[in-house]
Formats: sequence, C-alpha cells, structure tokens
Amino acid sequence: MNRNKVCIIVEKHEEALSDRGARLFEQKAIEAVKAEGRFWVALSGGSTPRRMHAKFADRPSIPWQEVHVFWADERCVSVEDPSSNFGSAWEDFIGKVPLPSEQIHAMPAHGPPGEGALSYEREIKRILSPKEGRFPSFDLVFLGLGRDGHTASLFPAQSSLEEDERCVVAVKGGDPDVDRLTLTLPVINQAKEVVFLVSGKAKAEVVQAVIEDEGGAFPASRVRPGMLTWLLDRDAASLLSEETLTQR
Ligand code: 6PG
Repeated sequence: MNRNKVCIIVEKHEEALSDRGARLFEQKAIEAVKAEGRFWVALSGGSTPRRMHAKFADRPSIPWQEVHVFWADERCVSVEDPSSNFGSAWEDFIGKVPLPSEQIHAMPAHGPPGEGALSYEREIKRILSPKEGRFPSFDLVFLGLGRDGHTASLFPAQSSLEEDERCVVAVKGGDPDVDRLTLTLPVINQAKEVVFLVSGKAKAEVVQAVIEDEGGAFPASRVRPGMLTWLLDRDAASLLSEETLTQR
C-alpha cells in the first residue's frame, strides 16, 4: 500500500480553519509557481470550503496570473443553482480576483454527463500534460468529507470507486441527489498533496473512523497521495485519540 505522509492540523474553530486553509493555498501557490512557473489546484465542492474561498480574495501574494483552478467534482446543475460548486466559487472569490478566464477550468455541468466527463478529462490532460501512461498530477487537491465517508462525488458502494483508467467519471448521488462529475481516485492520489478541510461536530465520528480505521472502509479512506493533510477544527477533531494527534 502506498505509504503516505499524513499531517493533522487542528484549528480552534471554523474561522481559524478557513484562514489557515487560505494561507496554505497561498503558500502552495507561491511554492509551485517559484518551482514550476504555474500552480494547478482542484477545489472541493460543498459548503465547508466557502468561507476559505472567500478569504482567497484577501490573500495579497497569491500569483493568480500563474494559477489554474479546477474542481474535484461538480453537480450537473446550472451555475445559477445554489448547489453549483462553480457558481459558489464564482460568488466567493473567482469574480473578485485577477484569475485569467482561460485558467478557470469549470467542469462542464450542462449537456450529457458522460460527455462532460470525457471533455473534462481532456481539459485536465491538456493543461497538466502527464507523461504517457501516467495520471495527471495536481499540485494540490482540496477535498471535503461527507458524514457517510464520501469525498468529491465518490460515494460508498459505487463503481466509480473502482475506476482505474479514467480521470473523471459521471455519477449520480449525494445531497442533492443529482448527476455529477467527479475526479477518480487514481488522479486524486497522483496529486502532490491532498488537503481534507473538515469542520463541525457532525463530522467528528466520520473523521475518527476514516483517520483511525485502518480498514479503509470509506471512499475517503482510499485517498492516499504522497502527502495528505487533514485540516480540522476542534469540533471535527474531537473524537481523535491523543495518540493520533501527537503522532501526526
Ligand atoms: C460535493 C462535495 C462533497 C462535499 C462533502 C462535504 O460537491 O458534494 O465535493 O464531497 O465536500 O459532501 O460537504 P459539506 O462541506 O457541505 O459538509
């Protein structure tokens, strides 16, 4: 099994967590641009990252001209729909920062989902240009965590969890229970770093189960990149053992 480096960071509340996440984004962007001249990042959907996304506009040193923003998943709804991950990100920061439009890689949420998945896979490969036979490697992928242990739109007991060739697939499920596009595990695990951003007491049980249950029963348990960071607030981390917290 891929032995990855796991780091757990606990902030006292959601505001501090969001601030830490925005500073991490800025730091990783600066490092990637310094080293490679660009920063390839995939954002999570859902509600947790929105406060962090809103803080991106206040981070003075993010090198937007060299940043390419992708998504880990998207609901196949109109951008005006409140459940649209792209629509939320536009509201939270994209419409407020000097990110060149050709570097905003929204998932094609209109049209037939299967075709959207193929077209997004082509877009990722066009920009990240992986070596022959290798999965594209994002510099950073943010993920959220559902109470059932799902992440991105990889839901328990769905065949998408076993996908080992495609980078993007069309699925249906979640809340809202709609058609979705999602990155697959091979491309998530090819990322240089994955950061789970999780907040609130309601997630404490699943956080503890995913981090401490070596059984790997959940979709999120199968996220094993070279570098994995759990960015939690105290409530979400409240059931983790002292041993887990001191080890990492
Ligand atoms: C999605 C998300 C999903 C989300 C979790 C947590 O588009 O549905 O990517 O994986 O991160 O469901 O959602 P909350 O942050 O809203 O709790």
